[in-house]
Amino acid sequence: MEPRVGESEANRERVRTAVLAAPEADLLVLPELANSGYHFESQGQSAQLAEPVDGPFVALLRELARARNLTLVSGLAERDGSTLYNSAVLVRPDGSIELYRKLHLFLNEKDHFAPGNLGLPVFQVGAARIGLLICFDWQFPEAWRTLALRGADIVCHPSNLVLPGLAQRAIPVHALLNRLYVVTANRIGTESGLTFTGRSILVGPRGELLAEAPETSEETRVVEIDPFLARDKSVTPRNDLLDDRRPEHYDCGRES
Ligand code: ACM
Repeated sequence: MEPRVGESEANRERVRTAVLAAPEADLLVLPELANSGYHFESQGQSAQLAEPVDGPFVALLRELARARNLTLVSGLAERDGSTLYNSAVLVRPDGSIELYRKLHLFLNEKDHFAPGNLGLPVFQVGAARIGLLICFDWQFPEAWRTLALRGADIVCHPSNLVLPGLAQRAIPVHALLNRLYVVTANRIGTESGLTFTGRSILVGPRGELLAEAPETSEETRVVEIDPFLARDKSVTPRNDLLDDRRPEHYDCGRES
């Protein structure tokens, strides 16, 4: 979809229309910062557009999740006291919500948002386990591996991608290396000269492309999956993607 910066009410209407028109589904994923748009003119503008999780945007998601009996994941500009986060909220049909705050902030996002402080949680949704990443988080293999080690079956990835084609090439590899489903819901459109790359993708645990949306127009795609296929990490009868790791030989610190 195409959120517009500064148009909170119209963005809510875009979300309402898209979710009500979507084919039947258990899980729908919307882009990053779907309430606010992306390219803020000033810190005053981001502060004005961000909203708490008990604000009107999440209230709408709750209403829609209940009405359509599905789980919704959406990016939102979140305000918690005087601190702003680039967050993703997961809303179950019963109205219960979960929150993730983007760990890896991209470029000028650092002028508006604090880095996430909630780690990399995995949430139970029905029988499935769902992890959340937001846009630029995709560049960090450690984040995908952490979610895989914590038992995620599906990674929902609200995005406002701007580097053409890179994430759409890399994400199937992250899916393959961690045996995860990935739903990258990317926005379309241009804001102040910044063009978003569209081409939302849904990828399976063997790196297979299950669905791809267009580059410049809004679209909802629904695919039937078996989340339990993500739990089979075997590579050969004698190899397992997670059990064969040798963490004692890996180093997370960088040598200068
Ligand atoms: C991005 O992280 N929105 C590029």
